[in-house]
Parts: sequence; structure tokens; C-alpha cells
Amino acid sequence: MAARMSNDLNETARALVAPGKGILAADESTGTIAKRFDSIGVASTEETRRAYRELLFTTPGAEEFISGVILFDETIRQSSAGGTPFPQLLAAKGVISGIKVDKGAKALALSDGETVTEGLDGLRERFAEYSALGARFAKWRATFSIGGGRPSEYCVWVNAHALARYAALAQEAGLVPIVEPEVLMDGTHTIADSAQATGRVLQAVYTELHDQRIDLAGTLLKPNMVLSGYEAATRSGPEEVAERTLECLYRHVPAAVPGIVFLSGGQSDEDATLHLDAMNARGPHPWQLSFSYGRALQSPALHAWRGQSGNAADAQRAYCHRARMNSAARSAAYTPELEREAVAAGE
Ligand code: 13P
Repeated sequence: MAARMSNDLNETARALVAPGKGILAADESTGTIAKRFDSIGVASTEETRRAYRELLFTTPGAEEFISGVILFDETIRQSSAGGTPFPQLLAAKGVISGIKVDKGAKALALSDGETVTEGLDGLRERFAEYSALGARFAKWRATFSIGGGRPSEYCVWVNAHALARYAALAQEAGLVPIVEPEVLMDGTHTIADSAQATGRVLQAVYTELHDQRIDLAGTLLKPNMVLSGYEAATRSGPEEVAERTLECLYRHVPAAVPGIVFLSGGQSDEDATLHLDAMNARGPHPWQLSFSYGRALQSPALHAWRGQSGNAADAQRAYCHRARMNSAARSAAYTPELEREAVAAGE
């Protein structure tokens, strides 16, 4: 046990969930970042994507709250305006680079509209290249929808199998796999439906990870929180979300996993923070409970930026503020008043 716990993978995983710190997911695919840029009226070009990511990565002080950043294939090859490759720029601030390696959710053959995540072919070779470029952890996301008999057992198990195949290749290459099974919260489902689907998915994922010889001490889990569907007639509040999510995690996630880093999944920025805080308030837990947010860390920054370099400082302040709020939620020190105090202080 002691030998396994001191390996490099476990050390990297624990560094990613160090107290007060979490992960920035900045790994939007070219299609997804184009949608985000559309919402602020900015054309998505290689240069606008690079400039936006540089703004985030060079935010003064963000490294106090951010342990690692997940990059997209294009981004890990890009550099700052001054010519420093992003992985080196981040490493100089003590921030660990990660890489999204899946190739997206594609239609699952012979299913009724469900998806399977692709990207296993050639993955060993891609890991070798990403490792040489400076990546120390990786991400693969599978998605599941709720309603009309979904997720099917078929969809749950093929995605769990692929997640474990990816995790094995990541560990073989010396990268920490972030295992991301996302049960989508779109729809009218109840929080009980969400708990049931999330539990089934996690059970399948940990069965496959075990069968495929993954060392859980060198992994992180990136799950959805257990929420009512976004279009449900009545929606559960933060206390019930915290209780239901924890109940599900306690049933299905082994204590050998060092950390659970939630995705935000379309929650409002403040809800994502409030929910994480409510779960940490019920600690201590067997795993660190942290964040790996995309939208919930970036939206205010994106809207402050609007593609104008003159807005960069405002955008960086907005990003750093959300990072600070989520950092506070790691130790259950977040309160809505903290949002207002920080704004009043002109942070
Ligand atoms: P969101 O926090 O916007 O859901 O993104 C996290 C992520 O990395 C999804 O794969």
C-alpha cells in the first residue's frame, strides 16, 4: 500500500486536489469554443482562441486557487504572444497541464439516440506525444441522458468500458486519468431519477476500472452533481443536492480515489460554488471534493472580455474572482456575502 501510495500518479492526483485548489477546464473543442464565442459576438479563429486562453493562463494570482488546466489539442501546441509554449508558461506558475484526449460523443450504433465517446485508436501514440509536450494528466468525457428509458444498460457499459480503456492507456503513459462520466441534467427528470442514473453509471465505471487493472490512487473522478432536471417543475435546493450527491458518491466511489472534481454542467456560476460548499460543509470525506469547471469558471470572464484586448484586465479579475469563490468552497468557507464583499472591494 505504502509503495503504491507514493507513486508519481498518486502525487500528481493529490497535487491537483491540494487544499484550496481546483482545476480550470479550458479544453473546449473547436466547435464548443465557437459556440461560446458566438454568445459574445466574437469570431472563433486560431488567434482569438489563443488570445483568450492566454488571458486566462496569465491571470495574476489565479495560481493560488488553480492547480491544473485542461487543454485542447490545439491549445497545448500554442504559445503566449511572447513565444512561451502554454505548458511551460503554466508550469512556471506551478500549474499542471492536462489534455482532453477523447474525440467526442458520437451516435451509438443500434441505439435510440444515445452516444458513445470515441478516440481510443492511436491513443497510446498520442499519449506519448502529449507527455512530451508537458501534459501530466488527461481527461475523457462520456455522456448519458435521462428519460425515455435512458440511459440504457448498453450505453452505460460501452462507455464505462471505453473510459477504463482510456484510463489504462493514460496510466501506462504516466498521466493521471480524469474519468468523466457525465449524466446530463437537461430535461424534466426528478432528483431521484438523477440519483438513480448517476449511481448506475458510477457502478459500471468502477467495475470496468477494476477489471482493467486501473490503480485508483492515480486517478480522479469528474462526475456531475445529482440535480433535478433543468426543466423540472420543481427543483431541489442546495441542501438536497448536497445530500443526494454525497449519498451517491458514498455508495459507488471507492475511498482509494484521492479526489472528486465536479463538472459544472450548465449550473449557474453561483450554484456550482454553493453546491460544492454545501458538500464540503458535510465533511470530512474519504476523498477531496473539488472542482474542474469550464463554464462556471469562465462565463463572467468571457462576457467581460468580448474579444477586446482593452477588456483583458476586467476579464482576468472576473476569472480570478470565480476561482477564489470556488477555492473558498473547498473548505466550506463560501457565503453569498463573500461575492458581494469581493465586488464591493473592487476585486
Ligand atoms: P463544464 O464545467 O462547463 O460542464 O465543463 C467541464 C468539462 O470539462 C466538461 O467536459
